[in-house]
Amino acid sequence: MLALAGSLTFATSLAAGSGGPIVTARQNSMKEMAAAAKAIAEMFDGKRGYEPAAFKAAADALNVRAGALIREFPQGTLGAPSAARPEIDDARPEFEALARHIGRFADALANKAGKAPDGITADMRMTEPPMDGGSLLGKRPGAAEADPEKMPEEHLLHLILQDCASCHSKFRQKEK
Ligand code: HEC
Repeated sequence: MLALAGSLTFATSLAAGSGGPIVTARQNSMKEMAAAAKAIAEMFDGKRGYEPAAFKAAADALNVRAGALIREFPQGTLGAPSAARPEIDDARPEFEALARHIGRFADALANKAGKAPDGITADMRMTEPPMDGGSLLGKRPGAAEADPEKMPEEHLLHLILQDCASCHSKFRQKEK
């Protein structure tokens, strides 16, 4: 990650005190992801009107934010006052694998949302419980990873939400 290497000194000098702009920026981008995921979930649950343009906007926002995750946690910005656990630094490969995993699903969801029909169709709905090895941490070794582009949109959203939870349980400080 060139961008990461370049930002190390910068990040370290800003990390003291309030958390600095990098921390604020990533917390804002997390909130944006949460808002986007909630919008999509509510459209599928019928709690919010479905509109292809709004669905696409939310899926794009999720995808852009998920794609930026890896570079948002440079060394020197972890630990209090941020809720990012210092352990991220000792587990970069795992953290980055989670970020790439959610990125793949978000990418597929955004692609599909770009072609979304005027109403939610049956093939966009999840037909089976989302426990098919899509979750990175729960995956059995050797389990075949299904092609995200072939999964229903609602299923992709569930897998995305599982990745949010997996990463938080390991790398985000519990709220007091
Ligand atoms: C690869 C790890 C990872 C993934 C994936 C991830 N998060 Fe986070 N999230 C974090 C960490 C670490 C923090 C703490 C950030 C900080 O305080 O500096 C956080 C913080 C947050 C916060 C609190 C932001 C604030 O106001 O302080 C929200 C909300 C959030 N995440 C939502 C989500 C949602 C929704 C998803 C999935 C669509 C998601 N996250 C995916 C690691 C992740």
